[in-house]
Amino acid sequence: MKILVLHGPNLNLLGTREPHIYGTDTLDDINARLRERAARDNIELRIVQTNHEGVMVDELHRARADGFDGVLLNPGALTHYSYSLRDAIAAIEKPVVEVHLSNIFKREEFRHRSVITAVCVGHIVGFGWRSYLLGLEGLIQHLRD
Ligand code: DQA
Repeated sequence: MKILVLHGPNLNLLGTREPHIYGTDTLDDINARLRERAARDNIELRIVQTNHEGVMVDELHRARADGFDGVLLNPGALTHYSYSLRDAIAAIEKPVVEVHLSNIFKREEFRHRSVITAVCVGHIVGFGWRSYLLGLEGLIQHLRD
């Protein structure tokens, strides 16, 4: 099984970025936990972080071209307005699980809307770094079904 983990804008700053909202774990800490979980089941992970919308679209296309089975995605602020990301998810026809560290529904109104959720198999919000692990678990089980 091959899974792409795709982190969007500003997530490279985790650890120092608004720690009262996003916690003090770095992206490397989170990625290490994801790799550990994936290794347990011999799952191959490709992990990419980018601050650029077009690169996210390219990475989704590349995942399909390279025969990846699914995607674990935190689109950052692109969640709320990126129709090109939404269309890329629909286009690749691979299961995508949306994750957010924070509970976006408890925050500013512009964060309450996700243009991504409707094209994802599911989403996990509000559990800090654990949202990623819960999302990965859900994606693995979904792929096994
Ligand atoms: C986020 C929530 C988004 O609203 C925000 O723009 C982020 C992080 C989260 O993981 O909680 O960059 O996706």
